Amino acid sequence: MLYACPRCGSLLAVEYPGLSLDVPAVKRIWRERRMSNAPLDQSGVWRYRELIPFLDLDRHRVATLREGNTPLLSAPQAARYAAVDALTFKHQGFNPTGSFKDNGMTCGASQGLRLGLRRVACVSTGNTSASMAAYAAAAGMTPVIFLPHGNISFGKLAQALEYGALTLQVEANFDQILALVRVLAERTGIYLLNSMNPFRLEGQKTIMVEMLDQRDWRVPDWIVVPGGNLGNVSAFGKGLRELLALAFIDRLPRLAVIQAAGSAPLYDYFHSATRDQFRAVPNPETLATAIRIGDPVSWPKAMHEITDSGGTVERVTEQEIADAKAVIGRCGIGCEPASAATLAGLKKLVAAGTVKPGQDIVAVLTGNLLKDPDYIYRYHTGQLQTPSGALIESRFGNAPRVVPNDADRIAAVLEEIASLRA
Ligand code: F0G
Repeated sequence: MLYACPRCGSLLAVEYPGLSLDVPAVKRIWRERRMSNAPLDQSGVWRYRELIPFLDLDRHRVATLREGNTPLLSAPQAARYAAVDALTFKHQGFNPTGSFKDNGMTCGASQGLRLGLRRVACVSTGNTSASMAAYAAAAGMTPVIFLPHGNISFGKLAQALEYGALTLQVEANFDQILALVRVLAERTGIYLLNSMNPFRLEGQKTIMVEMLDQRDWRVPDWIVVPGGNLGNVSAFGKGLRELLALAFIDRLPRLAVIQAAGSAPLYDYFHSATRDQFRAVPNPETLATAIRIGDPVSWPKAMHEITDSGGTVERVTEQEIADAKAVIGRCGIGCEPASAATLAGLKKLVAAGTVKPGQDIVAVLTGNLLKDPDYIYRYHTGQLQTPSGALIESRFGNAPRVVPNDADRIAAVLEEIASLRA
């Protein structure tokens, strides 16, 4: 299996030479499909199949769990926190396994079926493995997953087990395991569904298509997205460029990638004076374990998309992530830690003057609140510590109260709380 060019080593991308579409007609068809009960039309990925035409749909099976269809949610409290007039979240946590990986995995797993594979594999910080386990199981393939031992959230590990994945917890970090498994894949022919698989990125690019369809094709000024292995921003950039080339849109939104400060090699590179050498972070650290990645494979693609769109890269601390996450929770929306990096990063970009308060901003929440309940409980009860052991302040903490089995005393507690919150 080939993931990279044998000559230059760059990751491959899927291209459709000569693709041209009747834009008004296709936009109308996409709208009509929302009324359909056909599985492919109900998928928020395959509904846009004209833009991902790598399968012959009459002959090939598609693995779909009705992924996509994720909402755009306006969040005034979060907007106030970031000091912007308005903010919209595209919440990928509403996907079948609770993250944006499902948009990609339906394409990756379908390509696996097309190739007649029995087994598919991935290395993951948790969400890719949960997603791949589900799609492989649904399609009748065996999922094999490699995880950094001790550094993924329990919710994600639980999903992999429940979906029946063969689960290997390796005593190494994500970057080390990915290097190991790339060698293993070459030796054993096992098919990798990491984001270096170009078919997966084809699915993820439809997140941008669906977002624009939901906005009646009004292009936002900024798309804010967390960055780990940098596949997602690469997919977004590719999708947006294709939409521009096909004349679905007339300009590109700017891409802002937010990294956790302890795992921010792209930030370092983007802001270095000469950009002569990309330096991996050897021991990446962050409680946002989804983006605990020091040597992202898709960094060249990501750089291309960010610079092409006039975008930027920001980094945020553990405290900033934790607070932003609690604010997103208070909006009634909620997300996992990595996703909250978007709001934390946006706040900094606004303070720096890079993003203007009146601009039209869509931030992508990549994972569901319930992915990492342990983090939430610790934050709200004042027990959350950074990887180096410093206590994170629970600035928006909301600890539960233990009360006796006594109506009078509970009434008194309620009154006390009400007066505190008034
Ligand atoms: N947000 C969440 C919730 C993620 O799970 C990931 C990546 C990212 C952001 C970053 O996306 O890697 O495309 O830049 N999770 C991968 C995984 C690495 O294995 O689940 P990226």
